[in-house]
Amino acid sequence: MAQDSKTMANLQEAFAGESQANRKYLAFAKQADADGFAQAAKLFRAASEAETVHAHSHLKVMGGINSTKENLLEAIAGETHEFKSMYPQMITEAEKEGNAQAVRTFKFANEVEKVHAGLYTKALEALGQEGPVFDYFVCSICGHTVEKAAPEKCVVCGAGSKAFFQVS
Ligand code: FE2
Ligand code: FE2
Ligand code: FE2
Repeated sequence: MAQDSKTMANLQEAFAGESQANRKYLAFAKQADADGFAQAAKLFRAASEAETVHAHSHLKVMGGINSTKENLLEAIAGETHEFKSMYPQMITEAEKEGNAQAVRTFKFANEVEKVHAGLYTKALEALGQEGPVFDYFVCSICGHTVEKAAPEKCVVCGAGSKAFFQVS
């Protein structure tokens, strides 16, 4: 139905917008804290949580949340698209335009999406026969994601182990 497909496109658009607002407000909250504006920081954090509620609700209504097996497959496909096609092209274009900071951030993401695709593949293969549950550590500079413990040095960006935070 034409009307329904319009709504599906709108759900997709709204999901993208709410997701972006969530991350933007978290970044703004950090900045507000750094600037000494605690109340504005709290408001940004509260609104960011609300945008997550909206984003998750839109995603659910458009049928975007499925079984964990299907979700892992979708995550692998998304990460693979990013490191095989999206980021390589963006890196080339940023190099062409001489935007060194963009090259750097795209390259960090590109490397880490490969890691994510690998971790998701491993998780998919182990689904239903996992061993003891362990935590992941994420590099606050480049997003590199490792199992169980922070490495001494980030293999993607070179940061020390202190740059990693634990995700439980
Ligand atoms: Fe919202
Ligand atoms: Fe990723
Ligand atoms: Fe890193």
